[in-house]
Amino acid sequence: MPVETIRWSGHSLRIIDQTQLPTKLVYLDCHDVDALWHAIKTLKVRGAPALGIAAAFGVILGVQTFKGGDTAVFIRFVGKVCDHLATSRPTAVNLFHALTQMRGLAEKNPHLSVDALKAVLFSEALTIYEEDLAVCRAMGDHGAKLVKNGMTLMTVCNAGGLATGDFGTALGVMYAAQAAGKKFKVYALETRPLLQGARLTAWELQKNKIDVTLICDNMAASVMKNKGVDMIFTGADRITANGDTANKIGTYMLAILARYHKVPFYVVAPRTTFDLKMKTGACIPIEERSADEVRNFAGRLTAPKDVAVFNPAFDVTPHELISGIVTEYGIIRRPERASVASLGRSAGHSQTGRKPYKKNILKVL
Ligand code: MRU
Repeated sequence: MPVETIRWSGHSLRIIDQTQLPTKLVYLDCHDVDALWHAIKTLKVRGAPALGIAAAFGVILGVQTFKGGDTAVFIRFVGKVCDHLATSRPTAVNLFHALTQMRGLAEKNPHLSVDALKAVLFSEALTIYEEDLAVCRAMGDHGAKLVKNGMTLMTVCNAGGLATGDFGTALGVMYAAQAAGKKFKVYALETRPLLQGARLTAWELQKNKIDVTLICDNMAASVMKNKGVDMIFTGADRITANGDTANKIGTYMLAILARYHKVPFYVVAPRTTFDLKMKTGACIPIEERSADEVRNFAGRLTAPKDVAVFNPAFDVTPHELISGIVTEYGIIRRPERASVASLGRSAGHSQTGRKPYKKNILKVL
């Protein structure tokens, strides 16, 4: 069963507070843009596609407070709300695409009244959400074809329903394979420091009756060697024009291990996770988070309280280590500049204006 991660409920955005999982399933109602900004910053809502949806509805929360009838002033106000939301987290490009889309829509419609423009923006946020539901299922269908009965899979972080509207990217592939009647086993890496793999992926897969075994991150090599892993599926936060992929810290390490052990390594990500203006992964802004996330474990100090810490939240896997990128349009095998560009062309990918998702544009690959 999909997890409903985000829901617009009239005048507020209801999210699952993911920091409370797996012990409590708690919903949080964000009534204003600051509450949502804080929820994004503190990872109450997280995962690249979910951040795109949250940002779009964040704009709606922001514009709800606008009073007055001057459209030009309103459009500037929309810009300020977008600028504010853009400061929440830097790496997942879905957030920025959604904000560009919302801002662009406002700027393109100066002839509308403030109320009409608010309605147009709301409808766009809803479309971004609804497209995610369809796109994740399409990626699931493409990726499930790679999964054979009896396989052992591995994943890192949480690229499931909790990281999207409801179905997931990497875990969406597993849900689609399960729906197709395939039996398989999954090793989930716990994903230090914030344990998205242990807290969220293990919870989600168990809830969906998928055979999941939790391991610490430093067990991955030994599990590949001694237990046997047939395929790895991960999500992505930003994929550049040459196929380099930023994802949760530890993904690069996993890709290197996969190459050594000859395990196919697949990234599962929608068009909205591609940043085609960025040439290579070296340009991706990598979020660095608080030292206390590393010095502590489950709320308890586990290191000298003043020890120096380096805490990048993401790393970049070079495209050479990626067997394929599963998208809603099909699978880009051995991604590199030309194959990624062909996805951009056939999908009508645009950085400045969203073209509606059409399932049957399957020219690529
Ligand atoms: O810091 P997080 O929890 O937002 O990081 C999330 C990830 O790295 C996910 O793997 C990625 O966003 C893909 S989600 C479908």
